[in-house]
Amino acid sequence: MKVEIIDLKKRFKIEKVQILKHIKKVLNKGNLILTSEVSDFENSICKYTGSKYCLGLNSGTDALMMSLWSLGIKKGDEVITSPVSFIASVSSIIHIGAKPVFVDIGYDLNMNADLIEKAITKKTKAIMPVHWTGRICDMDKICKIAKKYNLKIIEDSAQGMGSYFKKKHAGTFSDIAAFSAHPLKNLNGLGDGGFVLTNKKFLYDKIKLFRNHGLKGRDNVETIGVNSRLDSLNAEVLSFRLKKLKSVINQRQKNINLYRKLIKKLKLLMKLIIKKMQM
Ligand SMILES: Cc1ncc(COP(=O)(O)O)c(C=O)c1O
Repeated sequence: MKVEIIDLKKRFKIEKVQILKHIKKVLNKGNLILTSEVSDFENSICKYTGSKYCLGLNSGTDALMMSLWSLGIKKGDEVITSPVSFIASVSSIIHIGAKPVFVDIGYDLNMNADLIEKAITKKTKAIMPVHWTGRICDMDKICKIAKKYNLKIIEDSAQGMGSYFKKKHAGTFSDIAAFSAHPLKNLNGLGDGGFVLTNKKFLYDKIKLFRNHGLKGRDNVETIGVNSRLDSLNAEVLSFRLKKLKSVINQRQKNINLYRKLIKKLKLLMKLIIKKMQM
């Protein structure tokens, strides 16, 4: 039997009526770019995570690149990150011209904070911890080191929606954090999507302009930007799914416990088989 990691077809069957209702609502308005659906979603995320600002973007990868760019990371700079991640953590650093420097992981599969200081050079400008599978890195230690060496922190929270460390949500420990709303994530949209969280108004202002061609108003270009807006249809569905996030996480945890139980049984069975073979 093939078990899908995330069964999107099954989920659509369950949510079909509501999802189509939401899509219809947006399509009936006849406006699909940077509408109230996007700002409503951003406000809901702020409320959920406790962050001051949120900006919807078109992917977690763009969220990482814009985070680095908005902090002024550039060619020749070094950014410390984890070797265990999706390619986008490293490629976002390379795309803006900086050099990724790896710090090995610990038993939790996250960057080992005790090894960070050894990796710092004169060129180091930032640390990018990755909250792998939603398990939050040792942010107490990482924040202390960043303060000591005057480094920026960009949290790769692509997998961190709904995760907490000492009652603080992922992405709220640092200067800025990037999240993904890719279909396989806890909070998933209709396709690609992402967002940044920050408490710093100047970073929010910079990315808000940059994600929309640098446009202030309809016709004034203030800076050269890109098109990385979260789609209104996606924002509407993400707002709907944010309300269900807790149950999605609970279900995933139930699945983990089932796997653990079955693997334990399997291990026991394997041990018995090996023992029998040795007799
Ligand atoms: C740890 C990590 N960083 C970055 C990304 C990139 O996110 P996206 O696929 O939305 O561009 C992902 C998602 O796959 C991820 O898992």
